[in-house]
Amino acid sequence: MHEQFLLFGATGDLAAGQVVPALANLLRDRLLPPAFRLHAVAKTRFDSDDAFRNWLGERIRKRTGDAADPDALRELLRRTGYTAVDLSRPEALAAGLQVKPEGGLLSYLAVPPDLFVPIAQGLKQAGLLEDPARLMLEKPIGRDLASACAINAAIAQCVPESRVFRLDHYLGKATVQNLLALRFGNTLLEAVWSRRWIERVDILVAETAGVDGREQYYSRYGALRDMVQNHMLQLLCLIAMEPPSALDADTVRDHKLTVLRALRSFSSDTVREESVRGVYQAGVVGAQAVDGFTQLPGQSIETFVALRAHIDNWRWAGVPFHLVTGKRLATRSTQVLVTFKPVSHWLFEKPHRAQATPDRLLIRLQPEENVELQLMSSLAGPEWGAMELQPLSLNLSMPPTRRRRIAYERLFLDALNGRHALFVRDDEVEAAWRWIDSVDAAWRAAQYEPLPYVAGSWGPAEARPFLPASARVSA
Ligand code: BG6
Repeated sequence: MHEQFLLFGATGDLAAGQVVPALANLLRDRLLPPAFRLHAVAKTRFDSDDAFRNWLGERIRKRTGDAADPDALRELLRRTGYTAVDLSRPEALAAGLQVKPEGGLLSYLAVPPDLFVPIAQGLKQAGLLEDPARLMLEKPIGRDLASACAINAAIAQCVPESRVFRLDHYLGKATVQNLLALRFGNTLLEAVWSRRWIERVDILVAETAGVDGREQYYSRYGALRDMVQNHMLQLLCLIAMEPPSALDADTVRDHKLTVLRALRSFSSDTVREESVRGVYQAGVVGAQAVDGFTQLPGQSIETFVALRAHIDNWRWAGVPFHLVTGKRLATRSTQVLVTFKPVSHWLFEKPHRAQATPDRLLIRLQPEENVELQLMSSLAGPEWGAMELQPLSLNLSMPPTRRRRIAYERLFLDALNGRHALFVRDDEVEAAWRWIDSVDAAWRAAQYEPLPYVAGSWGPAEARPFLPASARVSA
């Protein structure tokens, strides 16, 4: 296991909100090697390492409260050094970094993608990418296919793919990994997992949070690039991929890639029926009045997107996959809803066939974690009269007391140990961008500007047919 962790972007939101708390938790649980050290790098100058440590400790406490164990955080900060350097200049970086790669070095680039290449080049010049050093990149990898290919090619000049780890924190969530367990650990589900039995699939990632302080980044990316290109397509891949013969990194990634390549490109003729773009206006979320999203001058970016995706292959032909995500929505909820086709012949008087609720599998990923199988049943005393069917849920809840790990914890452990299965390969990223580019090009050709929606709602009214049944009720 590698012993040294070099964190670029150490003064950013991600570092304080997730990265350092995740490392502190791993340290508390004795999952890191005894000689573990953190080297923090960013461009802001501090008077001393101590000044940085105090500033970071305070920031983490403000942001996360007691989510990070105070003793473990103190111990982690004690093992932390800080370097201020201009991240966009490889020579300055190579000269400024005083790190010895002994014990194995993992460099993590938690910075915007335009800094990936200069940092990787600086690391290479400093001799910090020599075998067995590893490089981990935060999403998004680029802003479109062309920039992603350029980044992948330039990174490949610095370090081989076998030592590159592209991080998508959704893959570190236990509930996301559970999708594989559910699908491939049960005869019941895999047997009905195809167009023959499935009517539609809904993937929803609804957030109540707004863009809040990330306007500079978000105004260039929007919901499509920030959420769909990575997290939501990864969920779609896990749901739609063919059963792999083994769970090793490349077998799983090959299967995900096949799904991404089968996604039907968007076209400007149909983009208004097949997608909805929205932007939140002032409203009320969780009893709090909130402002609308302010576009930067000359920009027009979406904070909400709904897409109807089609996977053109044998298994999924004709089954729509609805992908919906947005900021400042009515509730926070990440879920996958699989709706099954109606039975072929309806025998019952009550309810009428048209009112029968379809069987559904609801997988809630956050904030609750549970799996619900909704079936039709008749438990209402059929011995007294005509049989009347009603929907009934089988509930598979996770024990509520178990502490939920930060997704980054699992991913950092895997990267320190050199395990690739939960990281995204170069060709996967490019296939995802190819499809996202088709959506963006279709929007531009159709001059489709984001539609306003009130903060605290379920997005623009036009998105209603895209919402899963669970959200449609309240939309
Ligand atoms: C990040 C996005 O990757 O994921 C954010 O950049 C988003 O905009 C976040 O809020 C959502 O993550 P989670 O784990 O809270 O669902």
